[in-house]
Amino acid sequence: MNRKLLVCMAPLLLIAGCGGEETPDLPGDPVKGKLAITAYGCGSCHVIPEIPGANGHTGPSLARIAKRTYLAGVLPNTPEEMVRWIRAPEMVDPRTAMPNMAVSVGDAHDITAYLYTLR
Ligand code: HEC
Repeated sequence: MNRKLLVCMAPLLLIAGCGGEETPDLPGDPVKGKLAITAYGCGSCHVIPEIPGANGHTGPSLARIAKRTYLAGVLPNTPEEMVRWIRAPEMVDPRTAMPNMAVSVGDAHDITAYLYTLR
């Protein structure tokens, strides 16, 4: 492992871990995120506040998801990890029932921005 690289990255990791109660800075647009959630049909498996028809129970409710410590029980709940999960849940947990829905990077950022409004 490259020690120099590790040392250089440490401050970045610290910043990423210091979100606290603040809403993290996100590149996404929550209004577009709401539309994307409807378009991808996330609500067929999740209860999602303010999304019409989002009342599925295959997955957990996403109400107050911004307050969750872990995503899917394994990932620290940060915007980066949220995007990672939404785009490729099977890469995180090969046995998860959540399918890869080929969500684009931009849509994943918008969706994440919306989900972080659910506090
Ligand atoms: C076929 C059903 C299904 C669909 C469709 C689906 N999910 Fe999931 N989702 C799940 C399941 C099941 C889990 C629980 C995974 C686990 O804990 O391993 C989950 C977990 C999650 C989590 C973590 C929740 C938590 O409490 O930690 C998020 C966030 C999430 N999904 C977002 C989405 C988004 C956004 C979409 C649409 C792009 C979507 N899901 C579509 C089934 C689905």
